[in-house]
Amino acid sequence: METVEMRKIVKRFPGVLANDHVDLDVRRGEVLALLGENGAGKSTLMKILYGMQQPDGGEIRIDGKAVRIQSPADAIRLGIGMIHQHFMLVQSLTVAENVALGLRSARRPMLDMGTIIRGIRDLGERYGLKVDPNAYIWQLSVGEQQRVEIIKALYRNASILILDEPTAVLTPQEVVELFKVFRQMTADGHALIFISHKLYEVLSISDRIMVLRDGRVVGTVPKENATREALVRMMVGREISLRVDRQDVPLGDVRLTLRNLSALSDRKTPALRNVSLDVRSGEIVGVAGVSGNGQRELAEVLAGLRPATSGSFLIDGVDVVHASVSDRIAAGLGYIPEERMRDGVIREFSVAENAVLQTHGIPPASRSGVLRFGEIRQHTQRLIEGFNIKTPNQRVQLRNLSGGNIQKLILARELTRQPRVLIAAQPTRGVDINSTMYIHRCLLDQRAKGTATLLISEDLDEVMALSDRIAVMYEGEILGIVPRSEATQDKLGLLMAGVRS
Ligand SMILES: Nc1ncnc2c1ncn2[C@@H]1O[C@H](COP(=O)(O)OP(=O)(O)OP(=O)(O)O)[C@@H](O)[C@H]1O
Ligand SMILES: [Mg+2]
Repeated sequence: METVEMRKIVKRFPGVLANDHVDLDVRRGEVLALLGENGAGKSTLMKILYGMQQPDGGEIRIDGKAVRIQSPADAIRLGIGMIHQHFMLVQSLTVAENVALGLRSARRPMLDMGTIIRGIRDLGERYGLKVDPNAYIWQLSVGEQQRVEIIKALYRNASILILDEPTAVLTPQEVVELFKVFRQMTADGHALIFISHKLYEVLSISDRIMVLRDGRVVGTVPKENATREALVRMMVGREISLRVDRQDVPLGDVRLTLRNLSALSDRKTPALRNVSLDVRSGEIVGVAGVSGNGQRELAEVLAGLRPATSGSFLIDGVDVVHASVSDRIAAGLGYIPEERMRDGVIREFSVAENAVLQTHGIPPASRSGVLRFGEIRQHTQRLIEGFNIKTPNQRVQLRNLSGGNIQKLILARELTRQPRVLIAAQPTRGVDINSTMYIHRCLLDQRAKGTATLLISEDLDEVMALSDRIAVMYEGEILGIVPRSEATQDKLGLLMAGVRS
């Protein structure tokens, strides 16, 4: 029997029909994947099921019974749990305290922490969700934090789990672990709804795949009948090329130089150790590595968000290692942050304000200290059109855009500034396939125009597709630099595991 039946769900936002008579079914024991381009309406549909948003029309049945889900509390009572695109844990509390949050009820005013800790351990063992109940959230890696979110849902007896892009922030190894957890959950009779932009993940873990486009269901296919090509056609509505042409471009002068750069992690342990590297005009140097080996800190040091403890960072020969963020931008630095929601935008500002976030003080956005709204409007319009950003207009608050469209706005803003040196950290994380191809083309165009690019990415396919050379980081050091012609998965994999060739 169907566990969840959503019928003719309609959801309108000003200027957008986010869900247009959507039907969805999922049964216990199966994984249903939701696939669709950025802004297709996936998160909206799931927020309706979780009671975070109210539909304008349609109905929901759980185990055959019509229900009204007016809040997440209602959803939890019906056995529905949701792991969000952006985590919602309290950093200063422990794992057990986070699980306990909101459990307090009139009947049980005093929570017994011992019971909760035991419960977390039991769930951890049953599903392979290893995490220390007494650790603080800030001490945990992203993958561990996600496990806490899943444990939190399971602790509340969720048997219908919604996972909105859970793999976007995970390393390939962590994805394998997560899928084992999925299999254990479906074997136990849970129903899972899984959202991802990565087709190979969808094809490997799901039983059925439902595709949304512009708020409508295009179709649902059993995994056995699905191919990459067919899914892309369903999502995009036409054939698109999944290839990028990468032309040879002549290398120019060295534009980015790192010399013995060192920095500390948030926990004040050494995170970067004597990193030295040159990137030339017209060159993309990829930085590969298992997450947590200093890539994040490297990007933050270069962006000016984390101090270097020693060493230098030169742009066109000028040391900016101690320069402010705005001086770095003036020196020609572009930065696509990994934590785009935290470091890249102000969600309460409008789309247009975000489009000129660091450049509002300089022409063309302003002249002699006066903002030029016409220029800002035209500039924003160019970004929206060039990058196919889905937004009702420029004036809406950025937080109303879908996750992937926020990413695209940052990319558009940074790339159109024609930076001399570009630091791109995980530039296609959370971005749909069509836009991923587009961003890859943009990075290559930028390279042809002479930008020196440092591409920090955990997606090895992406690094191998774009880079002229690949630097592999391990425990804060660059363990080796491999030219494109010699880069194989095996060779890079060994370096990523810390094996020096
Ligand atoms: N609170 C809101 N106010 C206004 N518009 C919204 C709101 N939430 C979503 N939208 C709009 O609804 C549409 C669907 O957004 P949704 O977040 O469901 O997309 P998605 O399929 O999850 O995309 P992504 O892959 O980028 O996460 C988008 O056009 C988005 O801008
Ligand atoms: Mg979404």
